[in-house]
Amino acid sequence: MKSWYKDSIVYQIYPRSFQDSAETAFPNDGIGDIPGIISRLDEIKELGVNVIWLSPVYKSPDADNGYDISDYYDISPKFGTMADMERLFAEAKKRDIRIIMDLVINHTSDEHEWFQKSRDPASPYRNYYIWQPGKNSRKQPPNNWTGFFTGDTWEYDEKSGEYYLHLFDKKQPDLNFKNPKVIEEVKNILRFWLDKGAAGFRCDVINIIYKTSLEDGKKSMAVRGLEHYKSQEGAHEVLRELRRDVLDKYDCFTVGETVFVDLEDAKLLCNEDRKELNMLFFFDHLEVDRRIAQFIPKKFHAHKLLKVTTKWQQGLDWNAVYFENHDQPRIVSHYGAAESERALPGEMWKRSAKMLALFEMTLRGTLFIYQGQEIGMTNFDFKSMDELNDVVSFGINKLMKKLFIPGFLRWKWIKASSRDNARTPMQWNNDENAGFSRGKPWLGVNNNYRHINYESQKKDPDSILNFYKKLIALRKESKCLVYGEFLPLYADSRLIIYRRKLNNEIYTIALNFSSNEIKLPGKYLPCFSGDRVISASGRKQESRMLPWDGVLIKTANY
Ligand code: GLC
Repeated sequence: MKSWYKDSIVYQIYPRSFQDSAETAFPNDGIGDIPGIISRLDEIKELGVNVIWLSPVYKSPDADNGYDISDYYDISPKFGTMADMERLFAEAKKRDIRIIMDLVINHTSDEHEWFQKSRDPASPYRNYYIWQPGKNSRKQPPNNWTGFFTGDTWEYDEKSGEYYLHLFDKKQPDLNFKNPKVIEEVKNILRFWLDKGAAGFRCDVINIIYKTSLEDGKKSMAVRGLEHYKSQEGAHEVLRELRRDVLDKYDCFTVGETVFVDLEDAKLLCNEDRKELNMLFFFDHLEVDRRIAQFIPKKFHAHKLLKVTTKWQQGLDWNAVYFENHDQPRIVSHYGAAESERALPGEMWKRSAKMLALFEMTLRGTLFIYQGQEIGMTNFDFKSMDELNDVVSFGINKLMKKLFIPGFLRWKWIKASSRDNARTPMQWNNDENAGFSRGKPWLGVNNNYRHINYESQKKDPDSILNFYKKLIALRKESKCLVYGEFLPLYADSRLIIYRRKLNNEIYTIALNFSSNEIKLPGKYLPCFSGDRVISASGRKQESRMLPWDGVLIKTANY
């Protein structure tokens, strides 16, 4: 049984924000591209990464930045050509780096030729999508579902005389997985990319692909209709079929993005014997201080974070461990101290970014790092909606306006939760546009780039970047950190302590999620006597923990 993916370190690239180059049909256009990625492979390798997850690079009209695909077999000219993509596979391979692709199959773009053809009711493609007549002599949509992007889920098409379903934007019509031809199409897509050299797939919103019924949904504050399509038996079956007919014939793995997933669903989706997904992304750990659809804040309590972490660490055979991606705010602005430092990010920004690195790098599972996380990139200092690009932020603003939520509050919440926080260009150096592009970047570069950038951190032994490198190297040496048991020891509202254990190897980790110095509970002090100490502050451990400090100790004889 292949298991190389288990101790892998995966680095997620959001291509449009990673590195622009002069080598595409649109040179220096302010949009990152594939030749740009190739030029940075050495930096990725140096970090200790051995797998790249590439967010979509396929042809797309970009209604949702590539998550609306119009051709699964071609590359968007903004990012380069198929020849560039082949060169990326080859150059990555030379460095022992594998690449997994983003598989977006819940929906296509409305500009995909399947969809265009399906608009004709007589077309063999009609059944590729979910078309329905309206209710009450066509005036009303077929059901009462609400969408993930806060708006409607049905769009009326004049040409067809019917509505089509779109759980996301109206430019992202949902495919119909009750149609075996759609499943065959997906198999062909998988084979095509695996034959090109892909080592697997990150499967976008994969637990909602199968719509069991189109009945009205129950009342809900979040997404109405969910009970008809979340983690349905049909989706399990599709996953097993893809595994059996294609994926298991290759040396590859899958990680599913699974929305509103609970532990019971997850146990079925990634149980090794059932052969569906190898692992999945859940969201609980990033939502302990949020309510309703992620954007309304509530107070953070460290013990809740430990509780949720323990539930998943112990509940699943194998976890996909991540703190950031292209949809989430930056972790150091979310659970760290970056936002509390009014001027430029300072000592607390740095220490808390390292503390969070220590947390993530000491969890059981396959590790995912998102571009920029390794240098502690922060949320952007957007000033108004005009500076945003994300379709979701606009949707939320519209919805909140309807609910009469005052402008200042809307802005406060959107600013903290906008997906654009993660999408500002990678900060490489302190040249113009942070070395990301010679042209005008598609989304603003964070103003703190002279202070936070890759090049300066590379030279500084005490940097966040070098801390990540050190922890990744440690993880490579230690089976315990990858495979060991996860054992919670203590938590209150600011402090958590846990342990990792494999046979005689034991690590104890303590993390301070506050700007106060904290006395370690006496009972646990013996756990902190050990020979190997790594701390975010750089201080050898004492009975008190500095603000935002994190410490890992190889515990002797406890
Ligand atoms: C996933 C992607 C997100 C996208 C959505 C629709 O959640 O991560 O960026 O907007 O699916 O494809």
